[in-house]
Amino acid sequence: MLASRDAQVVVVGAGPAGLVLGNLLRAAGVTCVIVERQSRAHVERRARAGFLAPHSVRVLEENGLAAGLRARGERHDTCAFRGEHGQFELNYGALGHRQPLTVYPQQDLVADLITAFLDRGGEIRFDTAVTGLHGIDTDRPSVDCAGPDGTAYRLSGAYLAGCDGRHGVARRALPAVAAREYRRYHGVTWLAILAQAPPSMAAVTYAVHDRGFAGHMARSSTVTRYYLQVPRGEDPEEWGERRIWDELAVRMRTAQYEPLHEGPILERTTVDLSSEVREPLQHGRLFLAGDAAALISPSAAKGANLAIMAADTLARALVDALVRDDPRGLARYSRDCLPRLWHAQEFSHWMINLLHSPAGDDDEAVFQRALQRARLTSLRDLRSHQDYFAENYVGI
Ligand code: APR
Repeated sequence: MLASRDAQVVVVGAGPAGLVLGNLLRAAGVTCVIVERQSRAHVERRARAGFLAPHSVRVLEENGLAAGLRARGERHDTCAFRGEHGQFELNYGALGHRQPLTVYPQQDLVADLITAFLDRGGEIRFDTAVTGLHGIDTDRPSVDCAGPDGTAYRLSGAYLAGCDGRHGVARRALPAVAAREYRRYHGVTWLAILAQAPPSMAAVTYAVHDRGFAGHMARSSTVTRYYLQVPRGEDPEEWGERRIWDELAVRMRTAQYEPLHEGPILERTTVDLSSEVREPLQHGRLFLAGDAAALISPSAAKGANLAIMAADTLARALVDALVRDDPRGLARYSRDCLPRLWHAQEFSHWMINLLHSPAGDDDEAVFQRALQRARLTSLRDLRSHQDYFAENYVGI
């Protein structure tokens, strides 16, 4: 092994969690290295989420990281629900005078965060995979790194942050005896589509149809995200452009409403709507944040916002420990984050049951569809349900 290098904190992963954490640590003068297996170009063009909650915007603004989203982000405050009985809109921004969401493509946020982190004296090792973690129960934990030119070396720090997403290695370093993993597949699979086309509607539109759910979400003025509920195991390559636009038109009931702005399909992948939560989120000197800590289905656009929440919480605790010699924040990191992660899981589960029901004509499917209609009617007609929706749709 080549000689190790020290940093106070070694972060695995340059996604929203790792980059927000790294920036907040650097702002407090904590030395930090981020190890990222992909190239800079790859992570800066990887289209993922795009809805920033007011809490996330606040964290970014308070830490001087919001110039891009302030200049190019779009306000978003309305959702539309479309079904066999027509359409209704919810201006959740107006309900209870809440701050609206900000639409800002995640790849743009990631690019902003990388630039800021490097400007603050942070170091990112791109094209470098972490292949193992060691000594998380000691005061000098370390990670094995496989560099782009085949070099292998170890990076050690006072603390390790596992921000390497749902497929990362960090969470597997939590001793099985000390951690519990909760997981659930929600019985719904989406075909996630990214289209080079302007948004077709002003609002995020959720369409409920007997053929299945369809969703429309602007990502920018020229790119739009669509979702189609498909059977589990569906092959995305079975969905050509014409088939996608035709099915979206049927489920979005364009015959009754405006036509869709079509364009080339940039990306089509299937997403099983599933959840995972690890408890606790830490062991010894290793702390998990973002998808490495908890995976949430994209039904409520929470993933990146929970990643930012956890990164903010962990950064405060690490700064307390490293700068003020106060370890209490680290000791209660899991207790601080888990209630909010579970609260978001509950809302995401509620959204899944609001927007989806099983196909088929058996008693169970028919009954579930009747329940779904009742949920939508309650949301349309009852202020209490609208407040619950607004509070949770933008809240973290
Ligand atoms: N070594 C180094 N880097 C790794 C490794 C590894 N072994 N494994 C994964 N990574 C990197 C990935 O390449 C990725 O850039 O870790 C990063 C994890 O980033 P994300 O998957 O975006 O996870 P996170 O930062 O937690 O953000 C989660 O943001 O992507 C949106 O909504 C989405 O819920 C998701 C949220």
